[in-house]
Amino acid sequence: MKVLVKKGETLFEALRKQNIRLNASCGGKGICGGCRVEVEKFGKVKACQFKIPGSHEVSVPKSLEFQAVGIMEGQTSFPDWKEEAGWDNSPVIAVDLGTTTVAMMGFYRGRQTLSSFTNPQRQYGADVMSRILQANSGKLKELSEVIRLELEEKCKELAEELEPSCRKVRVVIAGNTTMLHLLFGMDCRGLGEAPFSPVTLEKEEETWSFKDRNGNSYDYSIIALPGISAFVGADIVSGIYGLSLHKRTDRTLFIDLGTNGELVLADHGALYTASTAAGPAFEGNELAAELFGAGIIKVLHRMKESKSIDPTGMLAEEYFEKGFPVPLEDGRSLRFTQEIIREIQMAKAAIRAGIEVLLKEAKLKADQVDEVILAGGMGYFVDPADAVGIGLLPEKFLQKTKAAGNTSLLGAVRYAKEEKRSADAEMKELSKGAKDIILADNPDFSQYYIEYMNF
Ligand code: FES
Repeated sequence: MKVLVKKGETLFEALRKQNIRLNASCGGKGICGGCRVEVEKFGKVKACQFKIPGSHEVSVPKSLEFQAVGIMEGQTSFPDWKEEAGWDNSPVIAVDLGTTTVAMMGFYRGRQTLSSFTNPQRQYGADVMSRILQANSGKLKELSEVIRLELEEKCKELAEELEPSCRKVRVVIAGNTTMLHLLFGMDCRGLGEAPFSPVTLEKEEETWSFKDRNGNSYDYSIIALPGISAFVGADIVSGIYGLSLHKRTDRTLFIDLGTNGELVLADHGALYTASTAAGPAFEGNELAAELFGAGIIKVLHRMKESKSIDPTGMLAEEYFEKGFPVPLEDGRSLRFTQEIIREIQMAKAAIRAGIEVLLKEAKLKADQVDEVILAGGMGYFVDPADAVGIGLLPEKFLQKTKAAGNTSLLGAVRYAKEEKRSADAEMKELSKGAKDIILADNPDFSQYYIEYMNF
């Protein structure tokens, strides 16, 4: 994979920006060797000591690359291209355009390659709402350009890895409704306030033509997948499609834990969806960057068990002022302050209340759900025992919960590999057929929210 090391930065830091987390048991002192990677022209190097600026070709273990895009290894055995897929002879790139991370998988003639990068819109705010506010205060064009240029560049790099002389690329993009609005420069005013009306939820198709610094022309055929509502977007439709939730003959609860917590309950093909504004408690903030959302849940579970917090989330006296210390692998430590705990508490209460509302809507009890699927970067690492331990999930889910990795990317890949017309029809049907429940308008939601605020 290509990694850009900026001046004053180590390769370790540059890799981290791409979500590649190397082992750093000596804390970057150059002693343990855990961070060794192979760099083209330089051989094996310690990433924490490598500071040569420039774009380097780096070989990192495949499992770390998979982890960076949230793809689970089993998922890489995607179906083969359908003859009639309707794509002509050019590389295809599937993109999960996330609020925090953008993950990509490229394909060409039996080869595949992966890449990921931090969404450059991060500088405008960590979560969807702050980006909407920025867009609505005159920065829409900027927000649109910053992601579009980065996508053009990263897609070019990925496509050239697959076919060096390639000038045409097909790009299939799944992303939440706000990310797609921002990408296409669509007016976000309808997304910022009730009744939350997007400009469109339909599939978008565009051609992007541009020249690079050397004057080479490129043509990208862009397809952005359809969404269900302002807060249940194409990333979730893509996940439903990728996992065939709409075709299952059992009861499955799909939970995408991220900056927003989206929920889908599939009851013999009938789809109920909802979105909870989890905010940046589990993803997108500094704490999450160090620990991952899954680590945050684990720490809280331990704090609860050791009675460092009481059931209301109040820190024990000895930690009250300075917060609860959490040592990191590299010798530094973080502190869980009362403020942080409150933020997480609200996020978990919102997700749990959303689950309860969906169950009630479908007239089901938790034990009637056959399988619970945790999607998203965070769901990949979360231990169901911790999620149940802090009350994020009902106890009945403990034995039925499994991780599914980046299902948004999975669905985009599947879409690209199917015959286009039938894939379009299927996506359209499932996005139109889902019953989206607006939690803010739901009287049960506030009731459950208060009920599940405690640990
Ligand atoms: S040698 Fe690089 S982290 Fe230990």
